[in-house]
Order: sequence, then structure tokens, then C-alpha cells
Amino acid sequence: MNEIGLKCVSCQSEWPIEQHYECPACGGILEVSYKVEGSGGKEFSPFLPLDKQELISLGEGMTSLIPSQRIAKEIGLEHLSFKCEFMNPTGSFKDRPVSIGISMAKKFGYKRVIVASSGNGAGSVSAYAARAGMEAVILVPESTPIEKVRQAQFYGASVIKVPGPYSHCFSLAKETGEKLQMCNLTTTFLNPYTVEGDKTVAYELINQLEGKVPDIIFIPIGAGPLLAGIYKGYEEYNQFQSTNRMPRMAGIQAEGCNPIARAFLEERNEVQSVAHPHTLAGGIGDGLDGYAKDGTHTLTLIRQSKGFSLAVTDEEILQAQSWLAQYEGLFVEPSAAAALAGLITSVKEGRMKKTERAVVVLTGHGLKDMSCLKAKEPPVISTVDEVATFLKKKEDKKWQDSVLPK
Ligand SMILES: Cc1ncc(COP(=O)(O)O)c(C=O)c1O
Ligand SMILES: [Zn+2]
Repeated sequence: MNEIGLKCVSCQSEWPIEQHYECPACGGILEVSYKVEGSGGKEFSPFLPLDKQELISLGEGMTSLIPSQRIAKEIGLEHLSFKCEFMNPTGSFKDRPVSIGISMAKKFGYKRVIVASSGNGAGSVSAYAARAGMEAVILVPESTPIEKVRQAQFYGASVIKVPGPYSHCFSLAKETGEKLQMCNLTTTFLNPYTVEGDKTVAYELINQLEGKVPDIIFIPIGAGPLLAGIYKGYEEYNQFQSTNRMPRMAGIQAEGCNPIARAFLEERNEVQSVAHPHTLAGGIGDGLDGYAKDGTHTLTLIRQSKGFSLAVTDEEILQAQSWLAQYEGLFVEPSAAAALAGLITSVKEGRMKKTERAVVVLTGHGLKDMSCLKAKEPPVISTVDEVATFLKKKEDKKWQDSVLPK
């Protein structure tokens, strides 16, 4: 059995496996640390802070890795695949961190959980709380897409809208959780167990790519725990195998909410929060107001991986979203499409070579945010002639539109 505990990423102090939200010594971010012996020829199995029978699961993970059919060819990439996290049970990658976080909450004896969420964590926590027989309190920004709000409500959770940006939900959840004894499952770096769920993406990529490590992984980031989790997964695998092959991590943000990308481009070591985020990609619209240190942690990992962070415009995000749907058959929400927009910018700016093996993580389903889709009402037609005329018009238009940037 591996030795396991919590460790502070700032002061390196160690703590037992209990529900903490920050280092009791210095207030730093805590992560789960495993003392791992080398493999000695054993097969790798995931390092997790709980036993399989303690896991509250809805079948999360094991999502498809789909090679690009057309986008890769159009932009001249040799190896591009999409890790389809929107195929998780509630439609986003958040099912991974929430499954582990809520299992630990149950193990520690909590009856109630709370989360501050931009909408996807809301759906996950509501579903997994229903599964676990726990009560869930969900705080979302007022601007959260109606699909995400209704999804969370329908699982039976108490959903509350909070005025202002996501950071207001974050601070209210923190205070409410403390005062009313609820386990806080907010998937920033607050709850150290949730990142353990994020890291299972790396384990799956290792199997799906038959041991090959991608040169670069594109991930849409808010505070960045998904990026940190995937990086941690590769690190732990290397530790077990006594190897040292790490991917470069590309953390993609929206221009209207770019605290990490800005610090990276300005070559600063500290991330500064953004007080008034403005982007239609709500999942990555986290200005980190009050917890900029989370962004600094992600920035440090990005630099350590020799990767980079950049921001894309809402227009580029919507363009990437429609390319994914129309050229690959993959329908994702804007925050997820930001990762592909980031890859396209990286190719244009020469941040990656066209021969490199790239993975784009598609984090959330398109059905979760339908109001951003600019689609016309379909025509009402009842004769074959009208169908033929309609199709003819559509065909002409399709060929005009179908050019991706070289
Ligand atoms: C669809 C989507 N993509 C990406 C992210 C950002 O992930 P993280 O909070 O791990 O940085 C979120 C966060 O809510 C999200 O909902
Ligand atoms: Zn500390």
C-alpha cells in the first residue's frame, strides 16, 4: 500500500487525509501526495485517495479519444485528437473531480455539500449528490445558461443564483460551507481531492495512445485544476515507471477573462485577478477575484511543462465551435471550443510545430448552452420542389464557407 497524505504546494508541510481547504500552516494550496515505489514490472493502476468500493460513480471517465478527420488536414497537422470529455454522464469533465470529491465528503461523514459553479460543476454535484443520497446546494452566477440551471434543479438540488461574476459565488460558497457545515466541492484548488479526479484524463490518454505521450495538450482553463490534474497524472505515472516524458501544457483562456494568459505573456510570476470578466465562454469566465494564487499555481505548472498560455476572442471561439460541429461532428459548448481556437492560434503564431502530436480536451457538451448558437429558424416546407430549392441554396453556401485557415 502506498503512503498517502496532503502536502502544501507552497511550504511543503504534510497533513493527514482529512477535509482541509488550505494549508493550516501557510494558507497555501494542498494536494494529495503519494509516496510511490517504482513499478518493479507491475502494471500501473491509478493512485486515488480512496478504495474502489467507496467511489460514488455514474460511470464517469473512459471518454473517447477521436482522431481529427478534417480540421487536422485543413491546417496541416499530422496528429490531432480530441479527448471527448463532454461524453461524461452529465455532459462535462466535472464529473471526474466531483465523483472523487463527493466520495471523500461521504467518507468524512458529511450529509450536505455546496459548490460555486459556472454551471457544469452544478450539474455534476447535483447528479452525484442525488446518487449519494446527499443534499446539494448550488451557487451559480446570474448569467449561467438556462440549460445548466435546469439540469442542476432537475436532479433535486437547491440552486441559488448569485449576482455578479463567478468569484462572488466562490466567496459565498466558502463562507456558507464553513458556517453551515457543508463540504465544499468547488472545483478550483480549494478542495484537494477534486484534482485527483481530473488526473484520470492522463491515465486514459496513456492507454489510448498506447504509451505515447502527446507533445502538447490544449486545455481550456479557468483556475486551471483540470490542467494541473492532467499534469499530475503524467508526473505520477512517470514516477511509477521511472520515466520522464511529460507533455507541454497549453492553457487557453478567453480574451475577456485572461488572468493567467496575461501573466504568461507579460512574463510575470504572479497572476492578477480580473474583476469584471466578459466572455460568452462562461465555463472559463473565472476572474480569480480573491484567489489569484490558484492562477499562479497553474501558471507555474504551465512554465514547468515548457508550455504556454494564450487567450482567444469570443469570435474565434464561436468559429472553432462551428468547425468542430460541421467538420468533425463534435458539438461542444464555447468554453470547450476555446481549446481548439487556442490550437489554431498556436499554429499561426508558430508556438507549436505541425508535426507535433496534439490533443485537444473538449470539456463540455454543446447542448448545455444553446443561446450562443446563431441558427436561423428552419423553413416550413411540404413539397419536394421546395425541399430541392432549399437544399440547392444550402449547398452553394456550404462551399463558400468551408475554408479553414492554413
Ligand atoms: C466547459 C468547461 N471548460 C473548462 C473549464 C475550466 O476548467 P478549470 O476550472 O479546471 O480550469 C470549465 C470550468 O467550469 C468548464 O465548465
Ligand atoms: Zn503551506
